[in-house]
Amino acid sequence: MNIIFATGNKHKLQEAQQILGPSFSLKTSAECGITEDIPETADTLKGNAIQKAMYIWDRLHVNCFADDTGLEIDALDGAPGVYSARYAGEKCSFQDNIEKVLKELEGVPAPRTARFRCVIALVIDGDVTTFDGFVEGEITLEPRGNGGFGYDPIFKPQGYTQCFSELSPEEKNAISHRGMAMSLLSKHLNSLK
Ligand code: IMP
Repeated sequence: MNIIFATGNKHKLQEAQQILGPSFSLKTSAECGITEDIPETADTLKGNAIQKAMYIWDRLHVNCFADDTGLEIDALDGAPGVYSARYAGEKCSFQDNIEKVLKELEGVPAPRTARFRCVIALVIDGDVTTFDGFVEGEITLEPRGNGGFGYDPIFKPQGYTQCFSELSPEEKNAISHRGMAMSLLSKHLNSLK
């Protein structure tokens, strides 16, 4: 099945292709000619995921899905949450976001509990279905490791001594928020075959 993943993030595309397997041919929205930033102006992860997937559907009328992810830190009352991508400002880097989180958490003792949440919105023939995933963990005192992206260097999943950035892609996918939501998506897509 051909399906568009509304993302410009190559890490996410690789993760998704690994989970969905070879019977699904994934393309990014950019590969299908959508080169502008897709709007995400909702105030919930679910709202943003649906907004992004419906944007592609409205433009191309092809089956597609989009995800939205947030990092919820308990000591920051759930921030950055739905604002995780631009926590340190418009056009900020992953590094800027990490520095801001560590600064906001200065003086907060371990464990600085947090979770990643992910919502995937799938549009098949114009109908939307959503899938949720989450992973509990904590924010480390400093960044570690070189793998992954985003907040991976400061997120240590529960029950692990390593951060996401220190796990292999397979290990991360097996326990991650997006891995969980993608597995549900995969089961659903396979049930439609
Ligand atoms: P979005 O869903 O791509 O908009 O992600 C929101 C923010 O969370 C961005 O800053 C991403 O880099 C970050 N993010 C999303 N997924 C992950 C992940 O698996 N690990 C670490 N950071 C992530």
